[in-house]
Amino acid sequence: MTLKILFINGPNLNLLGEREQSQYGSTTFNELKELSVKKSEELNIKLEFVQSNIEGEIVTWIQEAKKTHDGIIINAAAFTHTSVAIRDALQIFNKPKIELHISNIYNREEFRKKSLISDVVTGGIFGLGSNGYILAIMAMHKMLNK
Ligand code: DQA
Repeated sequence: MTLKILFINGPNLNLLGEREQSQYGSTTFNELKELSVKKSEELNIKLEFVQSNIEGEIVTWIQEAKKTHDGIIINAAAFTHTSVAIRDALQIFNKPKIELHISNIYNREEFRKKSLISDVVTGGIFGLGSNGYILAIMAMHKMLNK
Protein backbone atom coordinates (compact mmCIF):
# COMPACT_ATOMS: atom_id res chain seq x y z
CA MET A 1 0.00 0.00 0.00
CA THR A 2 1.28 3.49 -0.86
CA LEU A 3 1.89 5.60 2.25
CA LYS A 4 0.42 9.09 2.33
CA ILE A 5 2.31 11.82 4.16
CA LEU A 6 1.22 15.39 4.72
CA PHE A 7 4.13 17.86 4.81
CA ILE A 8 3.01 21.18 6.29
CA ASN A 9 5.02 24.39 6.03
CA GLY A 10 4.04 27.43 8.09
CA PRO A 11 4.29 31.19 7.64
CA ASN A 12 7.02 32.84 5.56
CA LEU A 13 8.48 29.54 4.39
CA ASN A 14 7.15 30.41 0.92
CA LEU A 15 9.94 33.04 0.95
CA LEU A 16 12.78 30.57 1.48
CA GLY A 17 15.72 31.44 -0.73
CA GLU A 18 15.19 35.15 -0.23
CA ARG A 19 14.64 35.42 3.56
CA GLU A 20 17.61 35.41 6.01
CA GLN A 21 19.89 33.17 3.98
CA SER A 22 22.34 32.98 6.91
CA GLN A 23 19.67 31.02 8.85
CA TYR A 24 17.78 29.24 6.11
CA GLY A 25 20.20 28.87 3.17
CA SER A 26 19.58 29.65 -0.47
CA THR A 27 17.31 26.76 -1.45
CA THR A 28 13.94 28.13 -2.51
CA PHE A 29 10.57 26.79 -1.36
CA ASN A 30 9.86 25.34 -4.80
CA GLU A 31 13.25 23.63 -4.91
CA LEU A 32 12.59 22.11 -1.47
CA LYS A 33 9.22 20.93 -2.65
CA GLU A 34 10.74 19.29 -5.74
CA LEU A 35 13.49 17.59 -3.70
CA SER A 36 10.91 16.35 -1.18
CA VAL A 37 8.56 14.99 -3.83
CA LYS A 38 11.48 13.27 -5.61
CA LYS A 39 12.67 11.57 -2.39
CA SER A 40 9.09 10.50 -1.62
CA GLU A 41 8.65 8.99 -5.07
CA GLU A 42 11.85 6.96 -4.58
CA LEU A 43 10.34 5.61 -1.34
CA ASN A 44 6.92 4.97 -2.88
CA ILE A 45 5.31 7.64 -0.69
CA LYS A 46 2.51 9.90 -1.88
CA LEU A 47 3.53 13.31 -0.53
CA GLU A 48 1.25 16.29 -0.14
CA PHE A 49 3.51 19.32 0.34
CA VAL A 50 1.65 22.44 1.46
CA GLN A 51 2.37 25.91 2.84
CA SER A 52 0.17 28.45 4.60
CA ASN A 53 0.55 31.75 6.38
CA ILE A 54 -2.80 31.18 8.11
CA GLU A 55 -2.94 29.38 11.47
CA GLY A 56 -6.54 28.16 11.14
CA GLU A 57 -5.87 26.65 7.74
CA ILE A 58 -3.04 24.58 9.19
CA VAL A 59 -5.29 23.44 12.07
CA THR A 60 -7.91 22.30 9.54
CA TRP A 61 -5.34 20.42 7.45
CA ILE A 62 -4.14 18.54 10.55
CA GLN A 63 -7.72 17.68 11.52
CA GLU A 64 -8.56 16.41 8.03
CA ALA A 65 -5.33 14.37 7.80
CA LYS A 66 -6.63 12.09 10.56
CA LYS A 67 -8.76 10.34 7.95
CA THR A 68 -6.54 10.67 4.88
CA HIS A 69 -2.84 10.49 5.81
CA ASP A 70 -0.51 8.05 7.58
CA GLY A 71 1.80 10.69 9.05
CA ILE A 72 2.52 14.40 9.29
CA ILE A 73 5.82 16.29 8.95
CA ILE A 74 5.48 19.88 10.06
CA ASN A 75 7.67 22.95 9.96
CA ALA A 76 5.25 25.20 11.81
CA ALA A 77 7.72 28.12 11.47
CA ALA A 78 6.78 31.03 13.78
CA PHE A 79 3.58 29.24 14.89
CA THR A 80 5.86 26.72 16.63
CA HIS A 81 6.42 29.28 19.35
CA THR A 82 2.88 30.70 19.63
CA SER A 83 0.14 28.32 18.54
CA VAL A 84 -1.77 26.34 21.15
CA ALA A 85 -4.32 25.58 18.40
CA ILE A 86 -1.73 23.79 16.20
CA ARG A 87 -0.37 22.00 19.26
CA ASP A 88 -3.86 20.77 20.21
CA ALA A 89 -4.59 19.61 16.66
CA LEU A 90 -1.30 17.69 16.55
CA GLN A 91 -2.05 16.10 19.90
CA ILE A 92 -5.36 14.80 18.52
CA PHE A 93 -3.63 13.39 15.40
CA ASN A 94 -2.67 10.00 16.79
CA LYS A 95 -0.28 8.78 14.08
CA PRO A 96 3.47 9.47 13.55
CA LYS A 97 4.36 13.17 13.40
CA ILE A 98 7.72 14.89 12.99
CA GLU A 99 8.58 18.47 13.95
CA LEU A 100 11.11 20.05 11.60
CA HIS A 101 13.14 23.27 11.61
CA ILE A 102 15.76 24.34 9.10
CA SER A 103 17.66 26.40 11.67
CA ASN A 104 18.74 25.43 15.17
CA ILE A 105 15.97 27.10 17.17
CA TYR A 106 17.94 26.49 20.39
CA ASN A 107 20.88 28.71 19.47
CA ARG A 108 18.87 31.71 18.31
CA GLU A 109 16.70 34.30 20.11
CA GLU A 110 15.20 33.33 23.49
CA PHE A 111 11.63 33.33 22.13
CA ARG A 112 12.53 30.62 19.59
CA LYS A 113 13.84 28.24 22.26
CA LYS A 114 10.31 27.36 23.33
CA SER A 115 8.43 25.01 21.01
CA LEU A 116 4.78 24.43 21.90
CA ILE A 117 4.70 21.28 19.79
CA SER A 118 7.86 19.31 20.68
CA ASP A 119 6.21 17.31 23.44
CA VAL A 120 3.22 16.23 21.35
CA VAL A 121 5.16 14.98 18.31
CA THR A 122 6.94 11.66 17.83
CA GLY A 123 10.32 13.31 17.24
CA GLY A 124 12.08 16.26 15.69
CA ILE A 125 14.85 17.49 13.41
CA PHE A 126 16.38 20.95 13.69
CA GLY A 127 19.49 22.83 12.57
CA LEU A 128 20.36 20.59 9.61
CA GLY A 129 19.34 23.06 6.94
CA SER A 130 17.32 21.95 3.96
CA ASN A 131 18.74 18.42 4.35
CA GLY A 132 16.33 18.14 7.27
CA TYR A 133 13.46 17.94 4.79
CA ILE A 134 14.89 14.81 3.16
CA LEU A 135 15.87 13.31 6.51
CA ALA A 136 12.36 13.83 7.86
CA ILE A 137 10.86 11.97 4.91
CA MET A 138 13.33 9.09 5.36
CA ALA A 139 12.61 8.94 9.12
CA MET A 140 8.86 8.94 8.53
CA HIS A 141 9.23 6.18 5.94
CA LYS A 142 11.17 4.04 8.45
CA MET A 143 8.64 4.66 11.21
CA LEU A 144 5.67 3.74 9.04
CA ASN A 145 7.33 0.61 7.70
CA LYS A 146 8.10 -0.88 11.09
C1 DQA B 1 11.90 27.87 11.48
C2 DQA B 1 12.34 28.49 12.81
C3 DQA B 1 11.27 29.43 13.35
O1 DQA B 1 11.68 30.00 14.58
C4 DQA B 1 11.00 30.55 12.36
O2 DQA B 1 9.96 31.38 12.81
C5 DQA B 1 10.76 30.08 10.98
C6 DQA B 1 11.51 28.92 10.47
C7 DQA B 1 13.01 27.00 10.84
O3 DQA B 1 12.70 26.25 9.93
O4 DQA B 1 14.18 27.11 11.24
O5 DQA B 1 10.00 30.69 10.23
O6 DQA B 1 10.80 27.01 11.74
